[in-house]
Amino acid sequence: MAKIIIAGSLNMDLAVRAERIPASGETILGGELLESPGGKGANQACAAAKLGSSAAMLGCVGEDDFGRAMRKNLSEAGCDVSRIGVRAGSSGVALICVSARGENAIVVASGANMKFLPEDIHANLECFDGATALLLQLESPMETVIAAAKAARARGVVVILDPAPAPYSGIPSELLQLVDILTPNESEAAILTRTSPEKMTPDRVTALAANLCDLGPSNVILKLGARGCFLYGDDTSVFIPSPKVDAVDTTAAGDVFNGALAVGLSEGKALPDACWFASQAAALSVTKRGAQNSVPSRAELDRFILRLT
Ligand code: RIB
Repeated sequence: MAKIIIAGSLNMDLAVRAERIPASGETILGGELLESPGGKGANQACAAAKLGSSAAMLGCVGEDDFGRAMRKNLSEAGCDVSRIGVRAGSSGVALICVSARGENAIVVASGANMKFLPEDIHANLECFDGATALLLQLESPMETVIAAAKAARARGVVVILDPAPAPYSGIPSELLQLVDILTPNESEAAILTRTSPEKMTPDRVTALAANLCDLGPSNVILKLGARGCFLYGDDTSVFIPSPKVDAVDTTAAGDVFNGALAVGLSEGKALPDACWFASQAAALSVTKRGAQNSVPSRAELDRFILRLT
């Protein structure tokens, strides 16, 4: 029985480094192509498993080499991949440009991720029994995300939603009411609250988090990149700084954060302590290239944490 269930996307990432992210209509030359397993769901699953928790992934890949490679990689990370469906057609693919400053821009061809349906949740309901946390993102059909959140809520499993990519049309209230912890980054928070992505002053951070909590979730963790994160919720309002590192690639840092957050909670850490643990894992991940390639093992994270304390 897995402690952490991840319902969501698997993509093969095709990433290229360039001096900067190209502007609209522009062509630029970049460096070598890096092909590596990604997808927000699978990255979170990889992080949960590599950081030492039992994890099971629900999602779909295509009947192709990318699908086989993604399942293999996740399985080697220690995640239960037996419930990942294989559907006719292509797997999800993400085209990623990473700038010299480590920032990225991503476009996803969803492929099999859009064939992950509520029936796939209903066929796997027993895996929610006894789990601690469900990790969700928004690269799958909304009805499937809602079905998974309902299954978790009915069994007392903590529902953690990464609202990425953030839909400009908003997130259905039905889903937000089922969420225990919402984890947007700054741009996602601005989209969801329909506000402009202005400079994040402490007052603005608090106001954004409070606005998001008003939409339904019990807690909001606003991910502020290299600065850290702000936890706002039921009984807490606290800023947790991130350790300083030399970032080479921020792809999947938010996913590593969520995977580690679920691990922290499943180990019995209080929410602020789980956020601190997740910040350390995310910071370490940005020192390596790629998505699942950059997920640290528990031993690497423990060494990193010891160096800091
Ligand atoms: O969050 C990073 C991920 O977003 C990448 O791995 C890519 O596949 C997209 O889903």
